[in-house]
Amino acid sequence: MLKKFNLFHSILGIFFKNRPYDEKTVKISEQEYYVRGITLDDIKDLLSIEREVYAGELPWTKTAFLVELQAAEPHLYLLIQKEGKTIGFIGCRIFDKDAHITNVAVAMQNQGKGIGSFLIREVQQFARINNCEKISLEVRISNKNAQRVYRQLGFVSNTIKPHYYTENKEDALEMILSLKEE
Ligand SMILES: CC(C)(COP(=O)(O)OP(=O)(O)OC[C@H]1O[C@@H](n2cnc3c(N)ncnc32)[C@H](O)[C@@H]1OP(=O)(O)O)[C@@H](O)C(=O)NCCC(=O)NCCS
Repeated sequence: MLKKFNLFHSILGIFFKNRPYDEKTVKISEQEYYVRGITLDDIKDLLSIEREVYAGELPWTKTAFLVELQAAEPHLYLLIQKEGKTIGFIGCRIFDKDAHITNVAVAMQNQGKGIGSFLIREVQQFARINNCEKISLEVRISNKNAQRVYRQLGFVSNTIKPHYYTENKEDALEMILSLKEE
């Protein structure tokens, strides 16, 4: 069973590895949203979500987005829209067998509706297709809300990275979701 499962993902990988993300309409708790890959033209909308949700912290700059969207490693950057307005996004870049979530944010008014969890599951699918063994991310030690969402999705705490965030020297908690089959 396990071997067949792995073989299935390897075959999927051959076909889907470097394919662009197929845009789609999705339903999350009875609400309809539109999801697609991020392009350079979207950066200004992402910056405004960043400024809203990371007020007083360290929002990404335009350069940070440009670097990520043009990274040489396999990566997935998705946004989600409601009635034409971008309300959330996620980014991940693959390093070896690790799909690292570089950023995930949902606009304040749309939080708690299952959108963040949906975006993380899309990354999970991308990671499997690319034969990753785990998904990793860093989260502020004080960001208990986000940690709870990750835990609900199966992430476990790994290590603490001291003084990871430069602006206030806050520690980061590294969290990992193993994709290895038992
Ligand atoms: C962390 C973040 C990305 C999570 O996204 P989200 O869309 O709010 O997450 P979800 O809605 O999937 O899950 C949040 C909660 O809503 C619940 N939920 C899921 N679907 C729901 C629905 N349809 N209606 C109401 N609640 C729902 C989840 O069970 C979870 O419950 P909990 O509060 O008991 O843990 C988002 O809160 C955010 O952008 N925060 C600010 C930026 C940030 O901290 N980013 C992460 C940096 S590491």
